[in-house]
Amino acid sequence: MRYLTAGESHGPQLTTIIEGLPAGMPLLAEDIDKELARRQKGHGRGRRMQIEKDTVHITSGVRHGATLASPVALVVQNDDWKHWTKIMGAEPTDDEEVKRVITRPRPGHADLNGALKYGHRDMRNVLERSSARETTVRVAAGAVAKKLLSCLGIKVASHVVEIGGIKSEVKAYDSIESLAEITENSPVRCLDPVAEKKMMQAIDDAKANGDSIGGIVEVVVEGMPPGVGSYVHYDRKLDSKLAAAIVSINAFKGVEFGIGFEAARKPGSEVHDEIEWSEGEGFHRSTNRLGGLEGGMSTGMPIIIRGVMKPIPTLYKPLQSVDIDSKEAFTASIERSDSCAVPAAAVVAENAIAWELAAAITEQFYADRLDTLIKSIEDQRAYAREF
Ligand SMILES: Cc1cc2nc3c(=O)[nH]c(=O)nc-3n(C[C@H](O)[C@H](O)[C@H](O)COP(=O)(O)O)c2cc1C
Repeated sequence: MRYLTAGESHGPQLTTIIEGLPAGMPLLAEDIDKELARRQKGHGRGRRMQIEKDTVHITSGVRHGATLASPVALVVQNDDWKHWTKIMGAEPTDDEEVKRVITRPRPGHADLNGALKYGHRDMRNVLERSSARETTVRVAAGAVAKKLLSCLGIKVASHVVEIGGIKSEVKAYDSIESLAEITENSPVRCLDPVAEKKMMQAIDDAKANGDSIGGIVEVVVEGMPPGVGSYVHYDRKLDSKLAAAIVSINAFKGVEFGIGFEAARKPGSEVHDEIEWSEGEGFHRSTNRLGGLEGGMSTGMPIIIRGVMKPIPTLYKPLQSVDIDSKEAFTASIERSDSCAVPAAAVVAENAIAWELAAAITEQFYADRLDTLIKSIEDQRAYAREF
């Protein structure tokens, strides 16, 4: 499976084309809209999310509610486009007013590096694409992958475990369904109601101070059959693909599996998961400290991945930068921005992980048809149980 995305933040629309889905998979626009709406929520989001009400148009690859195996094209309109038709239009213009040229790079953004790389003297040409608005269609593609995983009995959920240094102290949950349900009703997608209030306060304080805060999100996956991925080559390792998926999300700077960086501080006996065997269940681990991945492959235990999001770089409290034309120092002021997007980023991470898992599965198993793919996954689970 592969996909590309296209679209600028204030362009007419965002687009993704997905290829490699099995034929016969049920897919409705509402499956995708549900995930798009989740990405727009969260305490700390700015005005742009009030302007946009993201919904998808499926323009190819699906007929009468099922995939055809031809490329699936998804389009999300930018409602804000109506205010930007001249500034972002495809037609040439000499009107400097219309161009709204940006010569002041914002610290922490792609502006300066992107301008240097592509030779843009107008950094709008960079920021329109480097904006996290693009994660809208990444979520759309991930929602399609999530649908495929659900057909295979694989569930993906996420929660926020830390914002601005405030940690969730609730680590346990009854089931992945209850994790999803509780966090869906939390304005910061947190399991811990005490931490939730403190996180919301921290976001409000950051906003009042003209600042921003980051955090940590955790993605949980249940039902992955063992042996997906491979140890034989660097680019077939499932953990490396998952790590890349997380760090590819705007503002994500780190990734952990299972107990993660704690492994550096503990002896091996407290890190590795002992292997057990029982009739019916087959091989399994007594603990899941390594987060469901060993040797670049799934173990069959839940996959646990955490991603670290830096504070949003656009600050109402200005940071110093230098104009690329005048070379004069200035302090960057802003138009509008989120003060914390960690809850929304949890949804992006969840969908980015769903994509990688679905891609790894369709690469490894015969995936032209959904019915045969379902059977292959069931066979793999049965094989592992009886191994
Ligand atoms: C869901 C989401 C929303 C974001 N919203 C903003 C925002 O409103 N303002 C901002 O400056 N950065 C925002 N970011 C982060 C920037 O897009 C990102 O930091 C920037 O493109 C530079 O990329 P890098 O941080 O990966 O190096 C957001 C990121 C995500 C995942």
